[in-house]
Amino acid sequence: SPLEETSIPLFYGWFLLSSVQDKLRCTALDFLKTLDTMDAFKKHMADFSGKAEKEVDLEQYFNEKSTFHCTTKYCDYGRADGAKEYAQNPAVKKSYGSVFELSLVALFVTPRTVGARVVLTEEQLLLWPAEEEKQAESSSLPRGSRAHITLACAEGIEPVQTGLDLLQILALPQGEVVEEMGLGPLRYYGEGRWMLELRESIGAPAIFSSFYA
Ligand code: A2P
Repeated sequence: SPLEETSIPLFYGWFLLSSVQDKLRCTALDFLKTLDTMDAFKKHMADFSGKAEKEVDLEQYFNEKSTFHCTTKYCDYGRADGAKEYAQNPAVKKSYGSVFELSLVALFVTPRTVGARVVLTEEQLLLWPAEEEKQAESSSLPRGSRAHITLACAEGIEPVQTGLDLLQILALPQGEVVEEMGLGPLRYYGEGRWMLELRESIGAPAIFSSFYA
């Protein structure tokens, strides 16, 4: 019935508590500001600006997202493949409204998106969709590799791109360490793709819930 269909949300996911959201926002902003001033980044500036000499203000370049979350299943109100099955999964129903602690292990930047990589526990993987959208380059990556929080997107870029950018980075051979930053080693993966591995992961309390636009 139409009523049942509207009861399936746009997406399910873990929504960060506001305290950790503010902290993560500051951490991400500091990262962008520092990256912007680094010679190694300036050397590859054309990845972002299209021109070798043109400077880029990363703070201006990206539009920050308002509510930080880690999507588990994009349901599109029941229209997405596997949406109904996911909504009816007993693990999903049981955990709905519970608080989890997400482990943020890296921050990454590409000319399209800024995100935080999330590594899921066994318990959290129970809430990860069974049939994950398969990307050609990610076919050998373990389940849940796509887990992330979109922090910001460039003009005209949809947030769905963040997970695809992460999978692309993870499928590449590990990039060279370009610099040891305060938070950990910064690696370059070519084509404007940067990843900062956090020496100490950030523990982020988050509520498993859903979003209706
Ligand atoms: P993400 O999880 O990377 O932030 P939108 O506002 O475009 O409808 O998206 C709502 C949320 O669902 C966003 O958080 C977005 O990306 C995620 N999302 C959108 N489309 C997809 C998709 N096809 N597969 C997985 N996640 C998606």
